[in-house]
Amino acid sequence: MKILVTGGAGYIGSHTVVELLNAGHEVAVVDNLSNASVRSLDRVEEITGKKVHFYEVDIRDDVTLDEVFKNEQPEAVIHFAGLKAVGESVEIPMKYFDNNIGGTLTLLHVMKKAGCKNMVFSSSATVYGKPETVPIREDFPTSVTNPYGRTKLVIEDILKDLYKSDPSWNVILLRYFNPIGAHESGRIGEDPSGIPNNLLPYIAKVAVGKLEKVSVFGNDYDTPDGTGVRDYIHVVDLAKGHIKAIEKIEKEKHVGCKIYNLGTGTGYSVLDIIEAFGKACGKEIPYVIAGRREGDVDTVYADPSLAKEELGWSAEYDLSKMCADTWRWQSQNPDGYGE
Ligand code: NAD
Ligand code: UD1
Repeated sequence: MKILVTGGAGYIGSHTVVELLNAGHEVAVVDNLSNASVRSLDRVEEITGKKVHFYEVDIRDDVTLDEVFKNEQPEAVIHFAGLKAVGESVEIPMKYFDNNIGGTLTLLHVMKKAGCKNMVFSSSATVYGKPETVPIREDFPTSVTNPYGRTKLVIEDILKDLYKSDPSWNVILLRYFNPIGAHESGRIGEDPSGIPNNLLPYIAKVAVGKLEKVSVFGNDYDTPDGTGVRDYIHVVDLAKGHIKAIEKIEKEKHVGCKIYNLGTGTGYSVLDIIEAFGKACGKEIPYVIAGRREGDVDTVYADPSLAKEELGWSAEYDLSKMCADTWRWQSQNPDGYGE
């Protein structure tokens, strides 16, 4: 299929473009490079030996986006483009509403005009808020804990309403748990600007000597070792979930509006991760126990069985591979893409 990938130069997007090309799809990427380097796509081409059509375009720019659709005539869109820093979204919510929600609305208008009605959207486990029980199934109640999460939930609702109004759309909402890891070539990976907010990129920067020690945000949670438990998933497994979603649309033609968790179904604590990363990089990771981070919850992990049943997808890679691949990327590219 001919797929247009918004945000395709970013972390999850670049890994997904590799898998799309490897599966024989044609790919065009739209990205405004607000949180990515175009070098990621050079490396995607190096890994796959295939070409990516790249457009440096903001998805809120309807005129240029329209031209891209005319040029490329994509049959489906995988929509990653968005801002994702939870703390920043609390400080500057309008920036998130404008970029994430406004950008999606413009994209949907342009898609409709172009007659492209197949959409795979990057949602997040954040839409489950503070889950009452685990593992989390897709039919659990949703709630909002911050403006970033609100953008995900609003966009999910917009897509559900759109589908209800016009069932010729195919909409697949993928709720990601905690993506980590990197392509095993060590050529593409996560390259956050500034001090990372999330656990794995932070640990990786400590391991490479760019940060001093990890602060463990609380050891008094109701978990086996007191630290927060999450469902970490290898980014390549996650990327493959998107290929399965596209294949479902390609095969079935009318899939309706579906929601799938993409997680492994296994939870690891912060201390488990620090230990596993230490093994992968061959050094002890220094850490201190700090206070809880506002808004954090004890335990989050997926029930990924629906994705297995209906997409034929399940995660393959274990935590040691997630850490080894993160370390390969970080140690071979201590300055990320170098910009
Ligand atoms: P990322 O920041 O690496 O990728 C997002 C990409 O979108 C970037 O390349 C950025 O330049 C681009 N972008 C942002 N706004 C744009 C706009 N207006 N027009 C064009 N391009 C724009 O982030 P990621 O980790 O790859 O996440 C991809 C998607 O998955 C995001 O929507 C994110 O919210 C969602 N998600 C991520 C995680 C995670 O932990 N990484 C978890 C759940 C959901
Ligand atoms: C983050 C996002 C959430 C997103 C999810 C999946 C925040 C506040 N939330 O949540 O919206 O859906 O990723 O990608 O960014 N931790 C430390 N020290 C650190 C960093 C984290 O101890 O320096 C702990 C956290 O308390 C948590 C675990 O590590 O228990 C994972 O944290 P993080 O990587 O930020 O992911 P989430 O909290 O799950």
